[in-house]
Amino acid sequence: MRGWGHLFATVSLLQRLKTETRPHHERTEAAVRLMEPGLTPGDYRRHLEALHGFYVPLEAALAARLEAAEPALRAHERWKVSLLEEDLRALGHDAASLARLPRCEQLPALPGVPEALGCFYVLEGSTLGGQLILRHLRRHFAGVPVGDFAFFRAYGEDVGPMWRAFGEALTHTAARAASGDFDTRVVKGAQDTFDAFGAWLTRETGHASVRP
Ligand code: HEM
Repeated sequence: MRGWGHLFATVSLLQRLKTETRPHHERTEAAVRLMEPGLTPGDYRRHLEALHGFYVPLEAALAARLEAAEPALRAHERWKVSLLEEDLRALGHDAASLARLPRCEQLPALPGVPEALGCFYVLEGSTLGGQLILRHLRRHFAGVPVGDFAFFRAYGEDVGPMWRAFGEALTHTAARAASGDFDTRVVKGAQDTFDAFGAWLTRETGHASVRP
């Protein structure tokens, strides 16, 4: 049986993540230019290419850290690279061109399970804002053949349930009970992930991922 103390701790890790990464979220959100009125299919494709360059190496690192260590996260059901590739194929890519896309080499440091969990929190949380982006892109590109938005659809109807299940699994990890600075390390992993993502999106232009 878990007592009230555990319930309080549960609220507090998710609350800390939300509060202590808010400025990082805002900065990264500002680097996502998908809501701009002049967004072209080429801009959208370049944004997905940048996401691909970040997600391919990062999901591999997370899989190595978390799949065996934290099975309750159901990490293997959450990877997004195949969704990105589905969208990119609809925009003209094939296996050879996907393999040539640049990959991010400045990944967030993930020295242990807590940092990896913080990183995964960022990737999973982005499915929430992703629903806003999805609605916008559907309207913006109505009648334009740009594919079916597999990445931003993510889990479809299950975005809410998948997010809640992630939060539950995150706060009940066995590793958490064993370590005093666990929560602080999770938060640091999340902050570093937001920052690395923002830096990668703005790497070419200094302000936006969608401009050539
Ligand atoms: C235009 C870009 C974005 C917009 C408009 C946006 C918007 C939002 C909104 C409205 C929420 C709250 C959803 C809810 O509580 O139901 C949210 C949550 C979140 N977003 Fe974003 N977002 C954007 C980009 C991103 C990116 C690029 C990332 C990650 C790299 C990200 C990570 C998160 C996380 C982790 C949460 C969960 C916060 C929490 O409740 O703990 N977002 N976003």
